[in-house]
Parts: sequence; C-alpha cells; structure tokens
Amino acid sequence: MVGLGPVRRALAAAPKFINDPFQLGVASGDPVPDGFVIWTRLAPDPYDPKALPDEAIPVAWEVASDDKIKKIVQRGNVYARPELGHSVHVELHGLEHGRQYFYRFTCGDARSRVGRAITTPTPYTKTERLKFALASCQHYDQGYFTAYRDMIAQDPAMIVHVGDYIYEASWGQSIRHSPIADAWTLHDYRLMHAVYKLDPDLQDAHAYCPWVLTWDDHEVDNDYSDLVAEDETNPVLFAKRRAAAYQAYYENMPLRAMAAPDANMNMQMFQRLNFGDLVEFDVLDLRQYRSVQSCRQPGMRVGRVIDAAHCPDFDDPKRSMLGAIQETWMGMNFGRTNARWNVIVQSLMMMNFDQLPGEGRGAWSDNWGAYGTARKKIVDLVLKRGLTNVISLGGDIHSYFAGDVVTTDADPNSATVISEFVGTSITAESYNTKLFDSLMPENPNIKYVNDRFRGYVMCDVGRDVWNTDFRIVEDARVRTPTFRSLAKFTVENGNPGVKPA
Ligand SMILES: [Fe+2]
Repeated sequence: MVGLGPVRRALAAAPKFINDPFQLGVASGDPVPDGFVIWTRLAPDPYDPKALPDEAIPVAWEVASDDKIKKIVQRGNVYARPELGHSVHVELHGLEHGRQYFYRFTCGDARSRVGRAITTPTPYTKTERLKFALASCQHYDQGYFTAYRDMIAQDPAMIVHVGDYIYEASWGQSIRHSPIADAWTLHDYRLMHAVYKLDPDLQDAHAYCPWVLTWDDHEVDNDYSDLVAEDETNPVLFAKRRAAAYQAYYENMPLRAMAAPDANMNMQMFQRLNFGDLVEFDVLDLRQYRSVQSCRQPGMRVGRVIDAAHCPDFDDPKRSMLGAIQETWMGMNFGRTNARWNVIVQSLMMMNFDQLPGEGRGAWSDNWGAYGTARKKIVDLVLKRGLTNVISLGGDIHSYFAGDVVTTDADPNSATVISEFVGTSITAESYNTKLFDSLMPENPNIKYVNDRFRGYVMCDVGRDVWNTDFRIVEDARVRTPTFRSLAKFTVENGNPGVKPA
C-alpha cells in the first residue's frame, strides 16, 4: 500500500502549529489481552487535507495506568506520514490483561486529549460480564451524533460499529452539510472523514473506549459489491474510487496493521476477538468479497425487493456473501473455543425478512435474504458445531429489529438457530414504517421492528443471560435531545431465540 515502506522525507522536529493539530481527537481499537491500537491524525486545518507539509512529522505517544498520565507503562515515537494523511497507528503489546489504560500523543508543544482503552481478559479467564454498545449508519447531514453521548453514559467497555461510518453522498433532509456532495477521490474521502471526526460526540466516544469496526457500503459507495459499483461506473474507475475510500478509511480508524490496504488496495477487516471466556466475536466483512446482487438489470436500481420466483440466480449456490477465503477462515474455528457466547458481528440483517406482500418469497437484493445459500452455510455451520449460544448483531436497515434466524428460509416457523439484534441508525433516515409493520404477519421469526427512532443498542452480557436494550434519541436533529429505552430483550444461553425482557 501507500505508506508502509521506509520513511523518506521527515522533519527533524515537529513544526510550530498555529492551530491545534489534534482537532480530530484520539481513538483506540481492536482490544486484545495484551494491547490495543491507539490512533490520531494530525490536522491543524481539518478542512484542508493539504495543510501539512509533504513530510513525515515526529509524534510521541504515552500509555499510562492513570488518567493523569503519571504512571507511564509504555512510550515511544512514531512518524505521522503524509502518505497516510499524517495519521498515527500504534499497535501496543505487552500490557496486562483485563484492565484499563490511558494514552495521549504529543507533537512539538501540542498535546492531544487523553483517551481511555482496555485490554481484554484472556480467553482462559472466567469472565462474568461485558457491557458494550452497537452502532451503525451515521449520516452527517441528517443529524448530530448525540446517540454517542447517551452511549458513554451507559459506560460500555467497547463500541462495536457495523458500518456506514460515513456516507459518501448527501441525500434526504439536511440539518448540516458535509463539504463533498459525492466523494470520489482520496482528497474527498479524507475531507469527509475529517468532517465526521469533528463531531464532538463521536470524538468523545472514540476517546471513551476501544472500538471494533467493520464496514458496510457507504464507506465507499451505495450497494457496491467487491469491485462492482451500483451503477454502470467503469470498473477501472470504480476500483480507483474504492482504493481511495479504503485508504482514507484506514487512515481514520484505529485499525491494526493487519487491516492496512495491501498492494492491491484490499483490506482485511474480518477478524476474531475474545472478551475472556464470555464472548467470542467473529467480525465479518460483507462487502469486499461478495458476489454481485441478484438479477441486476440496466436502468433499474440495484437495491430493491427481488421476487424469488422471477429471479433465476436468487438461490444460486455459487453466489457468495463472504467470499471463499473468509468463509473458510470462519468455518475452520467458529465456535470451537469455550466462549459462553459466539457473536457474529456483521453489517446487515441476517434473519429472513420476506418483503413481498402476500404469496411468494421476496428479499431486499443487497441483504442476506437474497444470498440465501450463503446464509444457509452459516446456519449449517452453527448446527454442525451444535452451538446454542450464537448471537448476530447487524445494522444497515435504519430500524430496530429483534428476531430469529431459523433453519429454513421458506418456513419462518422452523427452529431458531441464531438470535439477532439489529440496531437502527445513529442519524440516517428510516425507510418505510408502514410497509415494515404490514409485513410482520408474514414474518413470525421477526419478534420486533421499529424504524421510527434513531439510536443504538446496548448489550449487557452475563454468562447465562444476554440483555439487549434499544436506546433511542428522541430527535437526532437537535443538539440536546432526550434519550430513553425503547424496548428490552433477553436471550437465554443454550436456548436460542429473542424474548421481550
Ligand atoms: Fe446505512
């Protein structure tokens, strides 16, 4: 990729900044038993990605056991490199497991705020409890990211974000304006990420605890699949667009070097993380390797309800969601540890949702329902391993959903295999409440739907019971909204299926 070779042009010392170079805040991510990633990006003028010299700038970092950064346990120096948008990613190891740490960055006489991170308990440590939050779909123009304010008040140990961290384009009702109407170049995506990171609530959430991330489509372009755009964009141009978007995404997220774009501008986002012996997270990437959507037709939107009866490739077993490598990786070790809960972190909604009113089967072309044989492979894997503790967490649909992934798509009353919670959007507009409600009688595996609110999901996980709280923002278009719980659910370990709390 761009920026992982030796540093060629470096300043001997940090420049004197007129403006604060740490305006985009700090972040941590990917917590493991002995470390985590810490991140920042120098941006004294966030609206001008070319404000800094085309040279690497020395940055010092410190990790301490106290929030005053007095008891320092590790420190070091790195370069913020121009090829990486002057971002800094430090992957820490050798820390104690299962505790909190604090960190900060220094560049010349400028100093960042202090961020907090955690290391996880080892997979062999008996662990009683984990509280974490699930978020997705934050459209800058459509609201303030105040949901994070309430999230922090709930004290999550980590935040799981399942995509649409940025929206590449403007649509819907705006209450504030991102500077780019439709991002295409590295400059565009860098600017977009900078503007998002300036939201104070988002920044506070990054400083509060480590994030675990996967992406969906809008980090690049609506409804893209692998190297295929939603429209008839020339594939060479789309590959350039995706490369720019991936590069900017890496630069702006607390990701490990493992995830950095490779020579072909691919990024490995899929990974497995543990929180003690309590939870194993399989974080999936549903965008980069998938087959194109079914029954694409020139002049018709890719994202639409597909009628299975009129779409020959709907159930084509060759169509993949994960791609061969990710599928093999997941199949090898998913559920093979002693974790109390096996959690699939993915960007969409896995439970079947027949969106064709009346007779017949229909599914949203971009979602799991239209990749039925790919979903069946995961269902079969869970059954083969005899797992009765699997939870799926998703997003994308700008509505709260709670329900069950069942053995047979065509029979929504068949046995439950996976319990699923899908979060609404942080701000992005919902689609069609009346339609979703009217479809519920045909979808008895879906236990709850509500798309009237913006918000996020809190998960409070114990060894025997999983508790989920759908937390809403009453109005994401105002700076100081009220927050409340909309609905609560539980899942019993060993007895798959979502139940109202
Ligand atoms: Fe979205």
